[in-house]
Amino acid sequence: MLSFAAEILSVYMSNRTFTMIKPDATSKGHTGAILDQIIKAGFSIKAMKWTRLTTEQAGFFYDIHRERPFFGELVDFMSSGPIVAAILEKDNAVADFRKLIGATNPAQAEEGTIRKQFAASVGENAVHGSDSDENAVIEGDFFFSKLERY
Ligand code: RTP
Ligand code: MG
Repeated sequence: MLSFAAEILSVYMSNRTFTMIKPDATSKGHTGAILDQIIKAGFSIKAMKWTRLTTEQAGFFYDIHRERPFFGELVDFMSSGPIVAAILEKDNAVADFRKLIGATNPAQAEEGTIRKQFAASVGENAVHGSDSDENAVIEGDFFFSKLERY
């Protein structure tokens, strides 16, 4: 009975999240170190690509922030250089990954988090992490076809 309940629950709970290593981190040569920390924290890579967003794609991705004062800056920054996009798997992936990356503003991020180590400012903060299971699916689908996930 218990295992049946666990099975039903697992259908509704996602164990995947989506991340980008942002242009500030790729341009400073932090890609390898950040991936290393992600893997050592127990996430496995299900899909990954090195690419660059157009301003239109960056605007679409961060559409929820369109009315915010920082939107123009965010879109310019996110399309300013290459990024690494990836789908990651782990139990409790969304929440655990947000914990690993730390607060949006690196000044408020906990010691040892990726943003504390590699981010320069709230605008240029090294990594993205999905904020919900639903958005993890939407964001992963934006970058990857079914054939690109293993
Ligand atoms: P992300 O979506 O990139 O993982 O970041 P987040 O959830 O921690 O923060 P969110 O509120 O979703 O903001 C998205 C990105 O917008 C930029 N931002 N700039 N200048 C500012 O006050 C400001 N606030 C947010 C950051 O690049 C942030 O990651
Ligand atoms: Mg966010």
